[in-house]
Amino acid sequence: ERKCQLSGLWRNDQDSLMEISVLRDNGDFQGQYLTRVTLSGGCAQISPLRGAQQQLGEEGWPTFAFTVRWDKFSNASTAFVGQCFVDAGGKETLSTMWLLREAVGSLEEDWKATRVGRNVFTRKRTTKG
Ligand code: BTN
Repeated sequence: ERKCQLSGLWRNDQDSLMEISVLRDNGDFQGQYLTRVTLSGGCAQISPLRGAQQQLGEEGWPTFAFTVRWDKFSNASTAFVGQCFVDAGGKETLSTMWLLREAVGSLEEDWKATRVGRNVFTRKRTTKG
């Protein structure tokens, strides 16, 4: 039962990349997200993320939530929630679920505006070392 550290470079099952670069003592964190897929099918750009990790003290695997601002290429919004796990071999996994809200033109279209899904992130190894 090793401690789980959110900071660093992660890749998910859709090949999106996430770097958490700032993790404050109070659990707030910031980073960048590069999605491999987009609603439009067009190119993505690196997008800032902000979130908070719950503070359980030294022990335990923290839950967290974060949002990504896609506004360089999209007016959609995403919120992720998840928990960090460490297996017996020390491998860290972030198991998350997300809600993706796209902008629609009228209240009549509201019913189809929100998608839900799951992403699993594992730590991306650097090619060096
Ligand atoms: C958009 O296409 O309008 C914004 C990008 C949405 C990317 C989604 S967020 C949930 C899922 N997980 C990813 O890594 N990418 C997609």
